[in-house]
Amino acid sequence: MRQPVSLAHACRLINHGPTVLVSSAHEGRRNVMAAAWSMPVEFTPPRVAVVIDKSTFTRELVLAGGRFALNIPCRAIADLTYTVGSTSGRDEDKFSRFAIGAFAGSALALPLIEGCVAWLECRHIPEPHSEMAYDTFFGEVVAAQADRRVFAGGRWAFDDGNAALHTLHHLGGGHFGVIGDVVQGHAG
Ligand SMILES: Cc1cc2nc3c(=O)[nH]c(=O)nc-3n(C[C@H](O)[C@H](O)[C@H](O)COP(=O)(O)O)c2cc1C
Repeated sequence: MRQPVSLAHACRLINHGPTVLVSSAHEGRRNVMAAAWSMPVEFTPPRVAVVIDKSTFTRELVLAGGRFALNIPCRAIADLTYTVGSTSGRDEDKFSRFAIGAFAGSALALPLIEGCVAWLECRHIPEPHSEMAYDTFFGEVVAAQADRRVFAGGRWAFDDGNAALHTLHHLGGGHFGVIGDVVQGHAG
């Protein structure tokens, strides 16, 4: 069900503020953590920002490997999302421990998470000041894919027929809002 998304539309995948799973890899180690704080920051080339706390193993792998992926989870994997946001991969591989399926990204060979509805592979843009002061990491999106059942023609297509694939929005403490009604705005 995966299809490539053009870089011109890549930022739309996180435009609505979904919780993401940040995956990373370096020299045989791999990891994935949840992040509620990510956003697009530039259209061309598409660039994103994500907050990666100093305490995380993810941060070590991103700094060492120079790349990360934003995987967009959905209602069907809310438990997994909370789980990888509540445990560290520093001492034990989360993919093995929680039987997380992954496939290799086409551009950067990052582990992309099965069961998600969109995937953005990003080259890390080193910004030592913002990384130290604010834990904010920037990345340039070099490839994107989405599940065609819920993202088609360059836009999300959330409806009652694909409710299990609707994106998650963290409210705190493992509670998530799920993307709901979609309305068409008309410019006056
Ligand atoms: C829903 C959710 C959202 C989170 N958002 C962020 C975030 O935006 N930035 C961050 O640094 N940590 C965030 N966390 C915490 C990390 O996911 C958590 O520290 C994780 O255990 C780090 O894993 P690691 O050490 O394997 O990298 C979030 C946790 C949850 C459950």
